[in-house]
Amino acid sequence: MTLLVTGGAGFIGANFVLDWLSVHDEPIVNLDKLTYAGNLDNLTEVQGDARHVFVHGDMGDRALVRRLLERHRPRAVLNFAAESHVDRSIHGPEDFIQTNVVGTFRLLEEVRAYWSTLPQDERASFRFLHVSTDEVYGTLAPQEPAFAESDPYEPNSPYSASKAASDHLVRAWHHTYGLPTLTTHCSNNYGPYHFPEKLIPLMIVHALQGKPLPVYGDGQQVRDWLYVRDHCRALQRVLAAGRPGQTYNIGGGQEKTNLDVVQTLCALLDELAPAPQRGVVDARTGRPIQRYAELITHVPDRPGHDRRYAIDARKIERELGWRPAETFDTGIRKTVQWYLAHPQWVQRCQSGAYRDWLARQYGASMA
Ligand code: NAD
Ligand code: DAU
Repeated sequence: MTLLVTGGAGFIGANFVLDWLSVHDEPIVNLDKLTYAGNLDNLTEVQGDARHVFVHGDMGDRALVRRLLERHRPRAVLNFAAESHVDRSIHGPEDFIQTNVVGTFRLLEEVRAYWSTLPQDERASFRFLHVSTDEVYGTLAPQEPAFAESDPYEPNSPYSASKAASDHLVRAWHHTYGLPTLTTHCSNNYGPYHFPEKLIPLMIVHALQGKPLPVYGDGQQVRDWLYVRDHCRALQRVLAAGRPGQTYNIGGGQEKTNLDVVQTLCALLDELAPAPQRGVVDARTGRPIQRYAELITHVPDRPGHDRRYAIDARKIERELGWRPAETFDTGIRKTVQWYLAHPQWVQRCQSGAYRDWLARQYGASMA
């Protein structure tokens, strides 16, 4: 029994690998291309653990995927690999089409070929779990009900359009070929190992360095925050008991405006790492700051910015008995504490040192 995970050196994938191996003996083969978002520092806890086999490669490399499937004969494939940052998709959509659409297509084709050769009972129990996003449903007005699995797709960014396209491929591979697929749509994750380009880690890291905290537009956009460990546990439930061909929404039930989130982070940092004690100065003026909220700065809005996401997670609760364990208050405190306790991880992300492994292993051209 083995799982093949793609993108397991990224934020959610790494949390899934660590969480899985903390409770299961079943090994994981972790295929990751190590783009800028892939970070082997996220996996140091399982370094040398025979249950974790890391493979540096592209999920769109069909020969490599075929070899891995033949050699390790996984009972399931979990597809986390993606280009995941909306702002990057606006600046350069091409990588999103290549990885999220073409990469998923190639992965599906190799998985289908492997799956079709399995004995009947293994074919029946095999699963392809595709990790998608709530963003494929588009945006909500303030009073609209939360996204349900039956809602139409209305993706608004190049990122969400590419994820929507991959979801459609997964759906078709189930409908046409019978591949036993599962698709999940989760809301905004946060927690340890979150790359500091996304809202929450970026704000923590900037605040501690006295840099501006850039709030897009009026900061009244709403996201539904899900602690990453809760997400990982939901994926375990879907893998164990989800019905093939079905989709499951996964949300934290914790809607917050971006400005609220940033103000909460500033208040937590004031409590746990007071700026005067750390000698934090405003990087723009050189003056000491008293409170981190002094750094909040409104900047131009994201083009096409979705106003509100909210997840209706009643289906996964009803069918699979999953509910999040963390509220935003408990999860965000743990998150801030994690970042304060891991300055080296942050420093290596910011300096680019986390990519040294690539240069050491493959030479400077790969880094
Ligand atoms: P991430 O950007 O942190 O990590 C993505 C990982 O995929 C990286 O390790 C990267 O190296 C790897 N990767 C990229 N292209 C690859 C390829 N062609 N082959 C193999 N590996 C490749 O992303 P994340 O935040 O961990 O998100 C994981 C998944 O969850 C994505 O599919 C994303 O769309 C989805 N998702 C994320 C969130 C969130 O809040 N972060 C919410 C909903 C859905
Ligand atoms: O909803 C799920 C999605 O959540 C995932 O599918 C994506 O992979 C993930 O990146 C995330 O997308 P968002 O665009 O919601 O996350 P991000 O952290 O980039 O931004 C969260 C909100 O904060 C969003 O409204 C934009 C805003 N923002 C973001 C940044 C980076 C700011 O105001 N300032 C910032 O500097």
